[in-house]
Amino acid sequence: MNEPKAHQVSPIGLPVVEHWAATSLSLTPDDATILPRGRDVNKDPDPTLDSPSRHGQLRLDGRAGNARRAEISPRSRVTRVSTSADRRTLSGRVTRSQVSAEATGDTLTTFVDAFCGAGGLTLGLSEAGWLPTLAFDKWSDAIATHTENLPGHPALAADITNSRQVSAALAKLEDRPDWIVGGPPCQGYSTVGKRIREDERNRLFLAYRDLVKFVAPPGFVLENVLGLRDMSFVDAVKSAFTEAGYHVTAMVLRAADYGVPQLRRRVVFVGHREDRFFAGPRRTHDEHSYVSVDDAIGDLPPVEPGTEATRYSLRPTTAFQKDMRRESQVIQGHRAVKHPERLIEAISHIPDGGNRLHIPDHLQPTSGFHNSYSRLASWKPAVAVTQNMAKPSGTRCIHPRQDRGLTTREGARLQSFPDRFHFSGGAVSQRLQVANAVPPLLAETLGRALEDPARWLSDDPGVSLIPER
Ligand SMILES: C[S@@+](CC[C@H](N)C(=O)[O-])C[C@H]1O[C@@H](n2cnc3c(N)ncnc32)[C@H](O)[C@@H]1O
Repeated sequence: MNEPKAHQVSPIGLPVVEHWAATSLSLTPDDATILPRGRDVNKDPDPTLDSPSRHGQLRLDGRAGNARRAEISPRSRVTRVSTSADRRTLSGRVTRSQVSAEATGDTLTTFVDAFCGAGGLTLGLSEAGWLPTLAFDKWSDAIATHTENLPGHPALAADITNSRQVSAALAKLEDRPDWIVGGPPCQGYSTVGKRIREDERNRLFLAYRDLVKFVAPPGFVLENVLGLRDMSFVDAVKSAFTEAGYHVTAMVLRAADYGVPQLRRRVVFVGHREDRFFAGPRRTHDEHSYVSVDDAIGDLPPVEPGTEATRYSLRPTTAFQKDMRRESQVIQGHRAVKHPERLIEAISHIPDGGNRLHIPDHLQPTSGFHNSYSRLASWKPAVAVTQNMAKPSGTRCIHPRQDRGLTTREGARLQSFPDRFHFSGGAVSQRLQVANAVPPLLAETLGRALEDPARWLSDDPGVSLIPER
């Protein structure tokens, strides 16, 4: 058989043309195989990646011709962590939930985070007691953040569309993971249902589907910020994973309903090979108990535009603030961007929760949208945090009482990243990592619900905006 050229190879090692025709693979949990036809990852490693596995988790056996066969062993369902030394080897910074799971003799659910970014999803699932065994993302700054804050499992720079890099990453796995989780950036354009194979913008979603199909874990999670009302996309995702052998449900989760001080919504797909459907996590908060902006950031020291604070000067007053400050001595990323004097004067006229209509005519900015130049309301959860959080012209991101945009640390708090979680890279990169992330608290709630037999149903509940209480 002729070897396809490297650029023709899909993430799972199938020729691209056949690959988009898609569903010819028939992998089962006990029969996951791959024939990487790209370069030999052991002989020709990507210099940007860690050295290939020496553990031999994915067995790379010589085969006829250049093809090498990698096998994932039929996995034991969970990883048993028996000693504290093992725990540290496996998971580096061990979360309290992981420790208590081990103490009660429970086994830890393992997972791979594809498109891991800085690690909001990994952090949250770890806090739920899950054990990450591999994470990858093509963005080196995000990988640096992930590695620093979430040691103990390989976090690799790998592009999911590059078969060689994905093979090298998968070679780190000792066992088939219980779950693959990830948020492929895909737009959910309305064309997706009709032209799913041709649309370049859906390439990453398909690559993710193929990764899940190849590794064949018992379950997967796909989260996204897609155009939520685009049901054709929801249907397309569901049917792509249903064809791959999963029972899939989709739901829209609002972060504030799970204790995150932010109204951000995410669509979450959960699939399982067993004949059962995930009903979603129960809401833990409502309009009467939401964590507000003040509850979340009110203890951070005031900073003027163009200045930074690294020391706590105020006492934490809410449970959320106390939780965020746990194990943190210094404040990272609490620098306010410098603004022109005229802009500072303009926004000084906006009250807590107000908008640009409060700015006098002679100071009105000439550009922006209706929700630009708006202050967060101190008594409500924030609107979705974006990478433009530091600019008053961004979407409602002016501090409730200070005349400036948000600092990266304030954005991170509103995403429920604890202060001990430090971001790598330049300021712009750090803000993007924060804004991209799944709020860790939302991920933690999701992880706990996925482990709760009461949250699984025998029938597909259909797409719901917010799961029933
Ligand atoms: C929404 S973010 C993921 C956020 C992450 N789940 C978290 O909670 O922090 C999407 C990530 O996909 C990564 N990405 C985009 N294209 C990729 C590709 N071709 N291969 C691997 N990662 C990719 C981006 O670098 C980005 O970090």
